[in-house]
Amino acid sequence: MTNATCWREAQRYLVGGVNSPVRSFRAVGGRPFFVDRGQGPTLWDVEGNRYLDYVCSWGALILGHRPPEVLKAVNEALERGTTFGTPTPWEAELAKEISQAVPSMEQIRFVSSGTEAVMSALRLARAVTGRNKILKFDGAYHGHSDALLTKAGSGMATLGLPAVPGVPRQVTQDTITIPFNDPKAVEQMFRRHRKQIACVLVEPVLANVGVIPPAEWFLQRLRALTKEDRSLLIFDEVITGFRVAYGGAQARFGVKPDITLLGKVIGGGFPVGAYGANRRLMQWVAPQGPVYQAGTLAGHPVAMAAGLATLRALRRPGVYSQLEKTGAGLRKGLLRLSVGMGVPIVVNQIGGLLSLFFRSSTIETGKQARASNTRRYARYFRGMLARGVYLPPSAYEAWFLSTAHGEREIEKTLKAHSAALEEF
Ligand SMILES: Cc1ncc(COP(=O)(O)O)c(C=O)c1O
Repeated sequence: MTNATCWREAQRYLVGGVNSPVRSFRAVGGRPFFVDRGQGPTLWDVEGNRYLDYVCSWGALILGHRPPEVLKAVNEALERGTTFGTPTPWEAELAKEISQAVPSMEQIRFVSSGTEAVMSALRLARAVTGRNKILKFDGAYHGHSDALLTKAGSGMATLGLPAVPGVPRQVTQDTITIPFNDPKAVEQMFRRHRKQIACVLVEPVLANVGVIPPAEWFLQRLRALTKEDRSLLIFDEVITGFRVAYGGAQARFGVKPDITLLGKVIGGGFPVGAYGANRRLMQWVAPQGPVYQAGTLAGHPVAMAAGLATLRALRRPGVYSQLEKTGAGLRKGLLRLSVGMGVPIVVNQIGGLLSLFFRSSTIETGKQARASNTRRYARYFRGMLARGVYLPPSAYEAWFLSTAHGEREIEKTLKAHSAALEEF
């Protein structure tokens, strides 16, 4: 089996050859490789080529590939059966672990993806407030539910799609999109739509148009404004949860949202999402309350077991300082070499979350990120891939480090970086 034959078959039977658009390499050219297996920070394709992996299943694999404690938990869970559609003890166990780490989530509902978590939380926010409008930020991505498919990041930014056919205008007419890191724009919207905004939905660190950390006091300002207007603050921590700190961005920045959304890391590599809030808000959700939401495979026992094993491993002392050190080391190295070679880049990094933009001035908004040179990124991506380093196949997707990435991996990356830039 070769990558070329796999690609031929994939294109024949799968739309665009993939099951999620960015995987197709459309934005960077060439064709995807087909994975045979992974171990630690490494992937092998079907031809036996080896890649240092900075995608890590889009952030889900914070411990790298095949961490022994997760494999053990998954195998034990599988021994008992695959799914039961009836409660298991692991659902409450994982919910308890999450709630202790993220105290704003007193009660939790598990779903099967981040998209579902966001969609369900919006329904809840609208029901509780009796309002319809949603405020979100340019360049953020909150999954592919209809109301949020306008001016979004991730694949929509990658493919340059401002809106999506098939989404009726009525469905997005209550979605307001404003620039990130611009408290004045938020204030203006609250003045213009007083008592009409159900919630402010924010990725506390923008991570789907490249990585953009919040400006100082930005999240605090969102908290104050939502409180003042009695609107809800929703942190979409699908990426940042258990990544930028054990307690997520809300712990790192000291801002408590009303509703929190999780996914990726908490499933330990299996499909999962979650939303949670204080008891009073969660009482609105069925069967306790009238806000209906359900799922055949929600709280899937294997995902719960994998998630629990992952979170327990992340509780070990030093995990987050190591991720921070590795991320910061990589950032400094990339910048140092680029300056030496006269290629202007910006590297935004927070913990094990990083992105590299080809641009000479700072990047604090989605608009600035989109003004970076994505053609250069595509060339850089191909140069890195040729040297065995697999970066996200889009300038707008974050690089994800895992605990399996260490000094050796940084060294390999920096060597490839120099060589790739030399071709510029
Ligand atoms: C911040 C954020 N929210 C929501 C989602 C949607 O999650 P999923 O792809 O699991 O539906 C993503 C996916 O990347 C995300 O990054």
